[in-house]
Amino acid sequence: MIENRTIPERSIDDNVTDLLMANRDASRSDNKTILLTGGAGFIGSHTAVVLLDRGYDVVLLDNFSNSKRDVPARIEKITDRSCICEEVDLTDEAAVATVFNKYDFDAVIHFAGIKSVGESVEKPLEYYDNNLTGTINLLKAMNASDVKNLIFSSSATVYRQDNPVPYYENYPLGATNPYGWTKVIIERILTDMGAVDHAWRVIMLRYFNPIGAHESGLIGEEPQGIPNNLLPYVAKVAAGDLPEIRIFGDDYDTPDGSGVRDYIHVMDLAEGHLVAMEYLRRMIDRDNKKEITEKDACSVASLTENSSATDEKERRLKDLNVRAFNIGTGKGTSVKEIIAAFERACGKELSKAAYPRRPGDLATVYADTSLAEKELGFKARRGIDEMCIDSWRWQQTAR
Ligand code: WQD
Repeated sequence: MIENRTIPERSIDDNVTDLLMANRDASRSDNKTILLTGGAGFIGSHTAVVLLDRGYDVVLLDNFSNSKRDVPARIEKITDRSCICEEVDLTDEAAVATVFNKYDFDAVIHFAGIKSVGESVEKPLEYYDNNLTGTINLLKAMNASDVKNLIFSSSATVYRQDNPVPYYENYPLGATNPYGWTKVIIERILTDMGAVDHAWRVIMLRYFNPIGAHESGLIGEEPQGIPNNLLPYVAKVAAGDLPEIRIFGDDYDTPDGSGVRDYIHVMDLAEGHLVAMEYLRRMIDRDNKKEITEKDACSVASLTENSSATDEKERRLKDLNVRAFNIGTGKGTSVKEIIAAFERACGKELSKAAYPRRPGDLATVYADTSLAEKELGFKARRGIDEMCIDSWRWQQTAR
């Protein structure tokens, strides 16, 4: 119970300063210069298009280990806006610091990382070094430059496999492969940093299965070599580049026996990052207002014997600056349903056969997406057929 004590009068200067500070933050985010690490990649490039179309300025940072050098030019062609790209590897700490000395970023969206589940089992040290060292170098440069607004590209693989589906954000985390563990560990790093420094505002987006492509056919998923993931593999069979679709297991406990996943159109996912960026800006504005009221209230609470009010406010503040959201459709689609949708999209029947289950695969993986809908106002709106139509168009124009 906070007793009614007179709060020291705030001078007009204090209020004007607070207003300017709040506006500065708001205007800084209105300057809208966003760094996209891994920005030339599949999800990064589509997010760059959405941000540029919304008037943000973007700087891409990419080492082109799993993306093409002409992607920034294709983004410029789609948006008719400048798209700067810095060729940097995040494991090069000095190079990362140089980028932060060169630009004045308002926020960072961190996509960069290697992401094959199977490959990570064979090359664990490469995955921990690349994904963790790269992220730590990024966070050190952000900290040194006082850039503490971050959207992190996390993953469905952070959820323990024994969780019931659909996964909720507060379910226990745990991985079964080094790739998944890098995502769990990075979420832990961000949570611990946010707990000790409330200036950090972090949104962790946990994606499931992004597929599809921009409607222009100019950007899309371009995996190196033989695709691990289902959709690009099906697209290459449809294009005649591969002989037959391999259905990894048709005896799962699912409606048609094949694996079930939450597929989301990559443009819906990109728009989810835009919505998360707007939410970050609201966090900044709210924290500024709350810090002012909290400061006043806490100064009163700290004067009282009962300090639990301060602890409670502190806890709530801590909880509010690092948030995780599932970004998906909230629906499960089977392998066989995806193949049928792709056959409708390309107008031909595709060669397919049942193969043994792939080690590590689960029967059914999808999320509850109501928290993102309630708090971010995000809801995926494109369906499976549109995902396959856009993928097929991209496959036909891809270089
Ligand atoms: C989907 C379904 C396979 C290939 C991916 C990423 C992971 C994470 C989640 C981001 C499964 C089946 C596949 C094929 C098949 N995303 N399949 N034949 O395994 O859900 O994981 O999304 O972090 O990083 O890897 O995606 O497309 O490999 O598999 O039958 O040739 O398709 O068994 O049921 P997955 P996927």
